[in-house]
Amino acid sequence: MPRRHNGATSTPTAEEGPTTMPKLLLLEAMGNTGEYVIDAARDLDVEVVVVTHPDVYEEWYSPTLKHKIEEAGKLAFVDLSDSEGALRRLTGLARAEDVNGVVACWEFLTPLVAQLAAALGLPGNDPTRALSCRNKRIMARAFTEQGIPAPLTLAARTLEEAYQLVDTAGLAYPVVVKPSEQSGSWGVSVVGSDEELATAFATARSHLFQMPHGIPLDAHVIVQEYVGGTEFSIETVVAGGVATPLPPYDKFTTEGAARAEFGHTVPAELDEASVRTLQQAAVAAAHALGITNGIAHTELKLLPDGTTRIIELGARLPGDHIVALMRQARGIDEARIYVQIALGEEPSLAPTADTAAGIRFLTPPRGGVLRSVSGIGDSDAVARSRLTVQPGGHVRAPGDNDSRVGYVILHAGTAAEVNTAAAQVLADVRIEVA
Ligand SMILES: Nc1ncnc2c1ncn2[C@@H]1O[C@H](COP(=O)(O)OP(=O)(O)OP(=O)(O)O)[C@@H](O)[C@H]1O
Ligand SMILES: [Mg+2]
Repeated sequence: MPRRHNGATSTPTAEEGPTTMPKLLLLEAMGNTGEYVIDAARDLDVEVVVVTHPDVYEEWYSPTLKHKIEEAGKLAFVDLSDSEGALRRLTGLARAEDVNGVVACWEFLTPLVAQLAAALGLPGNDPTRALSCRNKRIMARAFTEQGIPAPLTLAARTLEEAYQLVDTAGLAYPVVVKPSEQSGSWGVSVVGSDEELATAFATARSHLFQMPHGIPLDAHVIVQEYVGGTEFSIETVVAGGVATPLPPYDKFTTEGAARAEFGHTVPAELDEASVRTLQQAAVAAAHALGITNGIAHTELKLLPDGTTRIIELGARLPGDHIVALMRQARGIDEARIYVQIALGEEPSLAPTADTAAGIRFLTPPRGGVLRSVSGIGDSDAVARSRLTVQPGGHVRAPGDNDSRVGYVILHAGTAAEVNTAAAQVLADVRIEVA
């Protein structure tokens, strides 16, 4: 019998009549975590009500995703751009549908889903602190207040104000400039001079819009102390306030002025003591930002002196097919865990495998029209590869996560084996752009 934190059980007594499937309201299934959550819900015999906007559905939902939704439940259309109106509509919808849990698969909607869960009395995160898991300006304030090690962060509306704040704080170059509330490394720059700061500020300002729902974003631009060291990601599962960190994993990001993620390996190639250090830091950060029921995705740096700095935390599943990597490498299904927690059930946390998996993104040398991708090779470690842009399609110059043209997923006994095979794939692959 599934156990529930709220004391309820899902098995009916004779008087209660036939079992009805639990129902999950899923805000925005677009993006790669949506499909994983729908799959997990179907495996758990949970019906899904997917909420999106009709234009987003028409333009962005793949035939596969549409088919999965038809099989697993149904669709509801709501304008998600105005959070107050959306909260009213969603509360009504959730009550009419008698849903047992609510989740968001699009990170801009994590504050809304926290408010919705609270309004419905369903498991979720602290709605009063949910914005601190999304808005990097508010996140930085919360980290400072709660003593969580994180880069010194300034927030400015104008370039003049930015210069003034940098001066007053005595912040030395290099610094990192980014929009307060964007994602996908959009508008993130590492800068080394006053002139570069001006360009980076303008770049960040040009990314103050949210695609595709048109949710209004904070107009502040963040100027942040640059943190060296090595970067990792880690998920923390929190159920009924009790946090369990999962294995940390390597996050590979390009060097230079613009930072884009080019790969991940699960688990990280790390000694046990460092794993524990990262896990403790991630758990502390999740508690500090009011994660009480859900999954926190944390990106953090480990410094040579053994200390950590949190780069950011999102109240969400990881993107970039990490859900598939974690499942393959460790037998831990984060999408299933996310659904179980949203329904108030005990999550399945025990690993059932002890291997490693990785993903590497294929990035073109420059922008233009994609001609061909070849040379991925047939190493035993390559589990699958996929082009996300077809030949003839336009590609963006490398810079942020949107310049990717495809990916390769690798699987092997250890992280070291995955990383060696992945380096070979990246060395051999040829991406031709005209
Ligand atoms: N203060 C910092 N010091 C050093 N590197 C940083 C800093 N801030 C950001 N970076 C680098 O830039 C990357 C992208 O920054 P950040 O995660 O803040 O932006 P994002 O748009 O939320 O990205 P994503 O959604 O891809 O995770 C980080 O993963 C990290 O490699
Ligand atoms: Mg990030």
